[in-house]
Amino acid sequence: MPINPPFPALRMRRMRRDPFSRALMRENTVTASDLIYPVFILDGAGQRQPVASMPGVERVSVDLLLGVAEQCAALGIPALALFPVIDASLKTEDGIEATNPDGLVPRAVRALKERFPELGIITDVALDPFTTHGQDGLIDANGYVLNDETIAMLMRQALTQAEAGVDVVAPSDMMDGRIGAIRGALEGGRFIHTRIMAYSAKYASSFYGPFRDAVCSAGNLGRSDKNNYQMDPANGDEALREVGLDIAEGADMVMVKPGMPYLDIVRRVKDEFKVPTFAYQVSGEYAMLKAAAQNGWLDHDKVMMEAMMAFKRAGADGVLSYFALDIARLLKARA
Ligand code: PBG
Repeated sequence: MPINPPFPALRMRRMRRDPFSRALMRENTVTASDLIYPVFILDGAGQRQPVASMPGVERVSVDLLLGVAEQCAALGIPALALFPVIDASLKTEDGIEATNPDGLVPRAVRALKERFPELGIITDVALDPFTTHGQDGLIDANGYVLNDETIAMLMRQALTQAEAGVDVVAPSDMMDGRIGAIRGALEGGRFIHTRIMAYSAKYASSFYGPFRDAVCSAGNLGRSDKNNYQMDPANGDEALREVGLDIAEGADMVMVKPGMPYLDIVRRVKDEFKVPTFAYQVSGEYAMLKAAAQNGWLDHDKVMMEAMMAFKRAGADGVLSYFALDIARLLKARA
């Protein structure tokens, strides 16, 4: 007996059948201008050190950083984010090196702005690369990170970076009230053009492990954690309160971090506030994808591009990614 199934009311597969109709209905795109490239920087000259837990990522001295910046500029990547690796001899309990106008970060900013004035430069505002204990702020006798005392240091750190000519300061410390304080410090110093990218919804995540290896703060942090200032991964509504505060205090851009496991937060933030919203595909996310690709378990380029598309679909205006150069090169080769 012949079987005659009823025909579907709508055939969704019609539009998926050919490349032309798939292209026409595609809702999102990834371009080089969506990317921010995070770079680990070192003192000295001619220095290049691979980061074991992040295949393909290197720490570079400022002279070699210029070569990295040149590649970003050539590929259309709008901005670099700098993360310093501070020599152990310069780390102190209070992280005062963060305010040194001749420190590694201000020197790198000056060198970059001189050679590549059009490339956006972003610097991290937090004390962890500079402290002997690896916490993002000043601690009391019990190791508790002090909020208001830390903010006083962060204001000085941000001003030092602004004086060096940085375009964007990015507080990643999660102290209460730091965005307003830093905005006030910048206005007071007449740095009216310096943008603030707030790490607004930054979670106490184990996906930061390889980063802490890269900046050599893991050993300093030891067995302690950052749970009393970074957010609990269980919470979503709280992220919206954090973002709302940072916008009210003067942030120009907000960020959700980590990225892929927190795309629900990216979407909620974008829907609720409609401000420039960024996501950080962090070191652990990068390490996972690289490791699987190296084992032949995932297709490197395909998962890299799919992950980036997912950030765009979730509502991110841009993404900090260690894949930035790889992505931009791939896009250029396809063009
Ligand atoms: C430091 C900082 C961290 C990252 C960016 N800035 C680590 C941390 O909070 O311990 C993580 C980035 C990554 O994992 O790629 N305040």
